[in-house]
Amino acid sequence: MKGYLIVLLLCGTLWTVESSKILFIAPMPAHSHFTLVFRLAKELVDRGHQVTVINPYPQKPSIKNYTDVSVEELTVYVEELKKNLLKLEKGGMIQTMTEMFNMGGEIADRTLKNENVQKLLHSGENFDVVVMEYFINDALLGIGHHFKAPVILISPIATNGFANFIMANPAPSSYVPTLSGAFTKHMNFWQRLQNFLVRTVLDLVRETIHLPKQRKIFKKYIDTDLELDDVLYNVSLIFANSHVSISDPLPLVPSIIEIGGYHISPPKKLPDDLQSFLDNAKDGVILFSMGSNLKSKDLSEDVRNILLKALSKVKQQVLWKFETDLADTPPNVKIMKWLPQQDILAHPNVRAFISHGGLLSTIETVYHGVPIVGIPVFGDQKNNIAAAMNNGFAVSMPLAEITEEKLSWALNEVLNNPTYRENIQIRSKLMKDRPLKPIDSAVYWVEHVIRHKGAPHLRSAGLDLKWYQREMIDLFGFLTLVSLTMSLVLYIILKKIVKCICKKKVARLSKTKKNK
Ligand SMILES: *[C@@H]1O[C@H](CO)[C@@H](O)[C@H](O)[C@H]1NC(C)=O
Repeated sequence: MKGYLIVLLLCGTLWTVESSKILFIAPMPAHSHFTLVFRLAKELVDRGHQVTVINPYPQKPSIKNYTDVSVEELTVYVEELKKNLLKLEKGGMIQTMTEMFNMGGEIADRTLKNENVQKLLHSGENFDVVVMEYFINDALLGIGHHFKAPVILISPIATNGFANFIMANPAPSSYVPTLSGAFTKHMNFWQRLQNFLVRTVLDLVRETIHLPKQRKIFKKYIDTDLELDDVLYNVSLIFANSHVSISDPLPLVPSIIEIGGYHISPPKKLPDDLQSFLDNAKDGVILFSMGSNLKSKDLSEDVRNILLKALSKVKQQVLWKFETDLADTPPNVKIMKWLPQQDILAHPNVRAFISHGGLLSTIETVYHGVPIVGIPVFGDQKNNIAAAMNNGFAVSMPLAEITEEKLSWALNEVLNNPTYRENIQIRSKLMKDRPLKPIDSAVYWVEHVIRHKGAPHLRSAGLDLKWYQREMIDLFGFLTLVSLTMSLVLYIILKKIVKCICKKKVARLSKTKKNK
């Protein structure tokens, strides 16, 4: 007993840090992004730290030891952009990328210009660590640099071209699919080629369009002799929103930590009307939501009619997140402007989830074991649904191909073929079977970085090499040159020898001829 107590005490002193000051940078006005940041910030407050959060959604009422630095005005700018999100499905990769990078530049610039942020920068405050949501906003790393604090990034998606580059994480195109496509880890020759080319284009766009823009913004607002790249390739850790239960098992350097699933909270009590709706649905319930950024109300009338017709034919009740009123809904379809998605998915009567395949939604539905009919639109959604199909718990129904028949088929498949449910239950068990709860893991790593004032011990030596050295292009080039030279030398020597022999032969021949 005594020994146990001593161990406990020792662990206490070794494993906790005094109350630390933590700055969060999360200006992106999208709930799917802020959810991740808020969950971690709140957890750190509950464990005795003081957090300051640059964000567009200030807390009302305020939370003790949680200070908002509001960039609320960004919501107006981004809500305008969100109206066009559904169009991105048809737009090409280049168009999508250009729009994303413009937005990233605008958000970084407007955040650094914001007067609350400027006040914070000139406040003389100190922070032990800076945690930033990393989403095409590299220039904001200047804030971490300004406070001379180690930086942790939260990637709202799985590790990707950007995160891999910052950490020198190996991601061979042969089996690591880019997040913007619909490939899975198993690709045939042509898919691997396409994957490689897409990745190369993305790398080029990052280097020639995105980073130059961010470097300029960094220099405009941050008073320093350093460049953005000095700070960018000095990030301590990246939290990737992934886990093998939902994404492919991929190589990860030790400075990329998977925290996928950490935003899930224990189910809360449902409002009475929803509770009785779910309890009384004897044939089960289909949950339908396009997430918080896409809006069901923005779907075209054609698509809406197809959806309503197909949904009217299932025997299940349907709960649809629809942001306005909707006339003539079939009797089994209930629309609601907002839904407590996690708490509904936790209800045992939910049989299927019609979803855009956003990462948070995918994680939540895997956690609760509800199979998916996916309607992916943009970003990593196609990739998420492709992985879900590969793992046997989803059917994909792209908007561009949607018809009543196809949708009815998809619904019937997911509702009545038990393999989808069985497969997602397997994934659900995997998600819950880990050495530490993901939120505990995230807290541990934040405190680890505070304790050690950064994480240089995790830094990959690959970061000290040029990209062509890291990819061994210089070695292959050198070896090619050497073998070419050797072949050439050999060829010349052989030619000489052959010539010599021939000459001698000819000489001998002519001699013998003469002798005759
Ligand atoms: C890199 O990070 C470490 C630890 O956080 C810090 O001490 C160092 O000053 C940083 N270097 C640059 C160039 O920012």
